Amino acid sequence: MSAAEFVPESGGVAELRAAAKDCHGCELWEPATQTVFGAGSPGARIMLVGEQPGDVEDQRGLPFVGPAGQLLQKGLDEAGADRSMLYVTNAVKHFRFTWQGKRRLHQTPDAGNVNACRPWLEAEIARVDPELIVVLGATAGKALLGSGFRVTRDRGVVMERETPVGARRFFATIHPSAILRMDADVRDQGYADFVTDLRAAVAAVE
Ligand code: URA
Ligand code: SF4
Repeated sequence: MSAAEFVPESGGVAELRAAAKDCHGCELWEPATQTVFGAGSPGARIMLVGEQPGDVEDQRGLPFVGPAGQLLQKGLDEAGADRSMLYVTNAVKHFRFTWQGKRRLHQTPDAGNVNACRPWLEAEIARVDPELIVVLGATAGKALLGSGFRVTRDRGVVMERETPVGARRFFATIHPSAILRMDADVRDQGYADFVTDLRAAVAAVE
């Protein structure tokens, strides 16, 4: 299964977003509320890539608008990133979850979902054409940099890699949800290290 047949051959991000509404490239479209496509400046110099929309994003139809998104935005503001330079998206465009009573519990997308959804991500990279792709956490890292990606080892430095849409510069850091899950005694340091990474990413395009 793959999103490839749903990706329009021409047009910009707006055309991609419109087409992605009807994607049935994997099974995740059915239980989810809607496709959550990338958002931000179509001429962005930095593209940030997360894992998949969460519960709030699924309901609102926008990426990174829930708790993790608020922490990401705070970090980006502190790092001096201007919103006009940013485009934010996810490796997988539908929320994957299981029901626990009346609550929807996040489930990490599997390799099949990531592979099926990759044509959207590659199309976004090709059409936004950012100078730097900031990978947030393991799912995005494995989706874009291969299964050998390790966030703790690979974070904080610019990496140049060939991709199906040409050579690109990548920069990895942890996922903001990982900071929210940290024990209270290490969370402040975890957040400070995250902002240090984001500052280095912003400096890499200046
Ligand atoms: N986590 C993600 O990876 N992406 C979102 O859009 C929200 C939470
Ligand atoms: Fe299509 Fe991606 Fe949604 Fe699967 S997760 S249906 S590939 S948009």
